[in-house]
Amino acid sequence: MFEHNDALSGFRLGIFGKGGSGKSTVTVLLANQLQTQGYAVNLVDADSTNVGLHHALGLDRPPDPLIDYFGGMVFSGGAVTCPVDDPAPLAGANLSLNSLPENYWARTPSGVILLTLGKISDKGPGAGCDGPIAKIARDLTITTDHPSPVTLIDFKAGFEDSARGVLSRIDLALVVVDPSIAAVEMALSMKRMINDIRDGAVPATAHLDDVNQVTTANKVFSETTTRDVAVVLNRIATSSAEDIICDRLDDYGVPVLGVIEHSETISNAWMLGEPLDLLPQMDAMELVVARLESLCNAVPQPDSTHGQATRQVEMGT
Ligand SMILES: Nc1ncnc2c1ncn2[C@@H]1O[C@H](COP(=O)(O)OP(=O)(O)OP(=O)(O)O)[C@@H](O)[C@H]1O
Ligand SMILES: [Mg+2]
Repeated sequence: MFEHNDALSGFRLGIFGKGGSGKSTVTVLLANQLQTQGYAVNLVDADSTNVGLHHALGLDRPPDPLIDYFGGMVFSGGAVTCPVDDPAPLAGANLSLNSLPENYWARTPSGVILLTLGKISDKGPGAGCDGPIAKIARDLTITTDHPSPVTLIDFKAGFEDSARGVLSRIDLALVVVDPSIAAVEMALSMKRMINDIRDGAVPATAHLDDVNQVTTANKVFSETTTRDVAVVLNRIATSSAEDIICDRLDDYGVPVLGVIEHSETISNAWMLGEPLDLLPQMDAMELVVARLESLCNAVPQPDSTHGQATRQVEMGT
């Protein structure tokens, strides 16, 4: 049995990758594995489009969207703005689970806390909630009775959220790579973007008239907490596919934390809306957690002075 563990407590991990690569699968498996190993886990569903994550977590229904808790999106006259137009921090984004109304969160059978940011399907035609959802994903901190949960954020496919500034507030970008060159290239692009931010790149602000907003946007980027990027391979069917993808990532210094094989059990679970749990893949996830613990503690958190991003990723296991 696992002892209580806290090497990753307080860490915010963003799960990124190309569409359909397995972000949600990896997020659920990792959340369950972390919970099994004694962590408290907050899983944030930040994908405005896909529904159904709650099934994979063994829940009958998702919690109500937090965008409603925060007053709705600006495009419908609400309070939550897009970070590109308004980089100011989201008011009240530091929440305690004890004071958050129970309809806005759910505890899965394995003990993971699920929070949902918002779904475009709820908002009607013409709605565009991705910007406001990115702001909540960027700024939300949920504390629980446990001193420091691990937060996993399951993002929408692609890069837009990361370009909106969410990268500045996560500790590690976990990119899920399926056996395709597009997925590998997305991981490499993410690595470049993180390196640029750590080297002092500032966001695009030519559209902002207010100098205070420009200052705030630059400050968000300059205070980045992001340490690095790492990969989990998913849907790997052959050892030669694994070798090809690993070699490619290795050439660019992107560590692979683990490999999830192509599995009928996984695809059937998604097809039937059944929980992704007690799968053989949990052994692979145990290795992912061990490597995450090693990685996150080997790479120092960036400070805000920049220009010294020469950190090496040391893989421990
Ligand atoms: N290891 C696997 N083995 C077999 N099928 C898989 C595996 N991982 C994912 N799938 C299949 O791929 C589909 C997409 O997986 P998942 O929803 O995890 O990807 P995603 O990256 O979150 O997708 P999206 O970009 O739509 O959010 C699943 O519905 C499932 O059928
Ligand atoms: Mg998904």
